[in-house]
Amino acid sequence: MAVQINPSILSADFARLADEAQAVKGADWLHVDVMDNHFVPNLTLGVPVVESLSRATDIPLDCHLMIEDPDRWAPQFVEAGAGSVTFHAEAAAAPVRLAREIRAKGARASMALKPATPIEPFEDLLPELDMLLIMTVEPGFGGQAFLDIMLPKIRRTRELISRHGLELWLQVDGGVSAETVERCAEAGADVFVAGSAVYGTEDPAAAVRSLRAQAER
Ligand code: DX5
Ligand code: ZN
Repeated sequence: MAVQINPSILSADFARLADEAQAVKGADWLHVDVMDNHFVPNLTLGVPVVESLSRATDIPLDCHLMIEDPDRWAPQFVEAGAGSVTFHAEAAAAPVRLAREIRAKGARASMALKPATPIEPFEDLLPELDMLLIMTVEPGFGGQAFLDIMLPKIRRTRELISRHGLELWLQVDGGVSAETVERCAEAGADVFVAGSAVYGTEDPAAAVRSLRAQAER
């Protein structure tokens, strides 16, 4: 289970995105939070920004769509250059069809669960996915406190993945920091999104290295 660290550009300077990508050399993916002010109470960026950013960096883009109607939008983010596209289980009308479409277009397909959404109803869908994202804060904003109560869900999801013998990556997003990353890793996560814990520091690349070292412990 290789550890991956994905800095979230939500905490970066949006006027200098190419430089901010450069500042996290060594990161596995750049996490791009797309919000529509309907699925979550915040508004960020869309397809044109992803298109430009994908041309400006060699780091692959991990697009997290916190939007309504991902069935319509997700394929456009693949076309814009995203290497991985995550839609929310709560928003997708036809998650299996959508995951297949994302894969057919050449990206990794991923599904996210808000804190109150259980994993169990989605057990049979797991083979259709390349990654599952367990939110460890309510989606919408960076810099929120990690929800410890999500650790049992991470553990149960890791057990399901093992029981089915799947290659699925297990991502955590929200409040991941030097204080919480080890608990997430211990519970079974292997892909770690970190916004403020990376871009809120003097040396973002060093923060990526130290989060990785902690997660690998
Ligand atoms: C929150 C976003 C996260 C956010 C994480 O809704 O999905 O990706 O950027 O920020 P931190 O790491 O600061 O909690
Ligand atoms: Zn995110």
